[in-house]
Amino acid sequence: MNIHFGADYYPEHWPEERWETDARLMQEMGLQVVRMAEFSWHKLEPEDGRFDFTWLDRAIALLGKYGIKTVIGTPSAAPPAWMIAAHPEILPTDREGRTRGFGGRHHDCQSNEVYRAYVRRMVTEEAEHYRDDPNVIGWQIDNELGNSHGDLCHCESCRRAFGKWLQKKYGSVDALNRAWGTAFWSQEYNSFDEIPTPRITVCGENPSQMLDWNCFHSDLILDFASMQAEILRRICPGKFITHNFMGFSELVDYYDLAERLDFVSHDQYPCLPDEFSPSRSEAGAAAALDVVRSFKERSYWIMEQQSGITGWQTMSRAPEPGQLSAWTMQSIAHGADCVVFFRWRVYRYGTEQYWHGILPHSGTPGRRYEELRDCIKSAGPLMDRMQGAVPRAQAGILYSFRQNYAITIQPQHPQLSYTGQLQAWHRALYGQNIPVDFVQGGTVHGDLPHADFSRYRLLIAPLQYLMTPAMEELFTAYVKNGGTLVLTMRTGVKDENNVCMTDRELPGRLSEAAGLEVRDYDCLRGTDVKVTFEGKAYTAVKWADLITPSEDTEVLAEYAGGWYAGTPCITSHRFGKGTCVYVGTEPGPELMEALTAKLCAEAGILPLAKSDRGVELMQKENASGSWLFAINFTGETKHFEVPAGRTMILGSAADTLGPYETQIFEG
Ligand code: GLA
Ligand code: ZN
Repeated sequence: MNIHFGADYYPEHWPEERWETDARLMQEMGLQVVRMAEFSWHKLEPEDGRFDFTWLDRAIALLGKYGIKTVIGTPSAAPPAWMIAAHPEILPTDREGRTRGFGGRHHDCQSNEVYRAYVRRMVTEEAEHYRDDPNVIGWQIDNELGNSHGDLCHCESCRRAFGKWLQKKYGSVDALNRAWGTAFWSQEYNSFDEIPTPRITVCGENPSQMLDWNCFHSDLILDFASMQAEILRRICPGKFITHNFMGFSELVDYYDLAERLDFVSHDQYPCLPDEFSPSRSEAGAAAALDVVRSFKERSYWIMEQQSGITGWQTMSRAPEPGQLSAWTMQSIAHGADCVVFFRWRVYRYGTEQYWHGILPHSGTPGRRYEELRDCIKSAGPLMDRMQGAVPRAQAGILYSFRQNYAITIQPQHPQLSYTGQLQAWHRALYGQNIPVDFVQGGTVHGDLPHADFSRYRLLIAPLQYLMTPAMEELFTAYVKNGGTLVLTMRTGVKDENNVCMTDRELPGRLSEAAGLEVRDYDCLRGTDVKVTFEGKAYTAVKWADLITPSEDTEVLAEYAGGWYAGTPCITSHRFGKGTCVYVGTEPGPELMEALTAKLCAEAGILPLAKSDRGVELMQKENASGSWLFAINFTGETKHFEVPAGRTMILGSAADTLGPYETQIFEG
């Protein structure tokens, strides 16, 4: 029997007399696992070197009696006050050189050796203590690594670590000076010791230094996680190791981090207050699930699934009746083996008094408890045979953390966002019920992707801004061998050091596959541009490449306004056995949908079926079967086409979905 549903539980927040009621209610609801203790450092080590696992032992044993297993979080997201008081240098320093104080969480410097020694000792103690406990099934390392670490850490320890990292990469300071082009503004360094972390300057910054800084930072977080993973693996070989990712969060290269884990977990909050995330939608939620699955190319856990109103100072909308179940089903449809709800019960104290859980403040089961209990009752019995199942996508979108860093350092257009554009392409395919993977498009260090492109009939490679000869070859070979490759504006602009290339017109050597050159461009500040595609008018934004096509290049769309009206905007070029499409702008949503519909049809990629807007169709499969999910994300009745030859295993009236209803079909 596998484990499929759980809750994030904080027994230390409540009187011990309540624990048994919680365990019973969890069991009655169908929960089989809790995650605990990821912020409980002080409770586990109340004073330097004095460990106390007794309370956690009691909680684990009691839950175990009710058939509920435990995942333990290592507590490195919340170092205790005694540690900070004794070693204030553990506190992180921000870009402005200010030390951030104790009182939130993640108030740590991950390169600090004193802190690392404390972490190693704690993780070792925990691992030894729980090695043989049959109720403890696995570990979550830290919590949301990178969260809250946005402009951290610029302390002396990190400066030294950055210097060492640069020395290893460049060998000599002369090589670094050449790579970064420090001749500009007299920024040459005579030794690695002179190189600062990129703190706030009087004006401007060196983009090459910034890119190295971002990669260093990703490596630092990775190293911090690996340090813990190695201890856990050595002492507890039989228990799994995971970490809770945050979708498109960018501080650590998640493809790298995923390699260190048995499987990836993710925290899924489809509805947040604006200050956390202004635009949330089912498409955005789907993209987060698809990217998380793609990081390890396998099924995942949801370690925190929204179970109520969210918010710290202000609150989100309340999930409507049925909405929590629809989100849960969506997480499963995209490849979750287990869904753990955040959190069991909303707490009285602290920052998250309004981040609601399954139970309200009163602890009395209500609407959310009942709804999720029913959802578990209907999905639970199907979950065992769906274990490990994932969607099989024929369309891929390339994702590289390195490209993201480079574009974020210099977005060129103030609203240009690399991950935003990835999600826009995803949304276009999602809206047509076409499954998508996010394919690793190169490592954070600029090495070639390990993903096999040939699995995809259509590969969309937005904003391939940094380019290497090896990457050009890979793209060219993919097209020659029959793939359909989509390249876009800002491709081949810079080399691997984030330095502009000068030897060819854009897009560099890829101009042969693409069948064009880009000799001029326009940054669409404060305006958009009209585009004609298949005789219809559309809008595009942010950028306009002025394209000089080769003779055998087909023009798919033209600009319809401005001084370049009538010139090509989107082109298609047969090359070898495949096709290279070039998109010289950021198409608006309608144009993206029309273009991807045409490209998928030509590449032989069929939508799963047709559905009304607001209905998601997703299919996942494993060696023993295949399941089609139809999820209604609206409060109204909706329809979809049921593909032939499927047996309904969840739902009543096939093809008609009630408000927020999910139907599942096998076969
Ligand atoms: C994240 C964290 C949780 C909690 C929630 C709500 O996902 O992992 O600990 O803080 O956000 O804020
Ligand atoms: Zn530091």
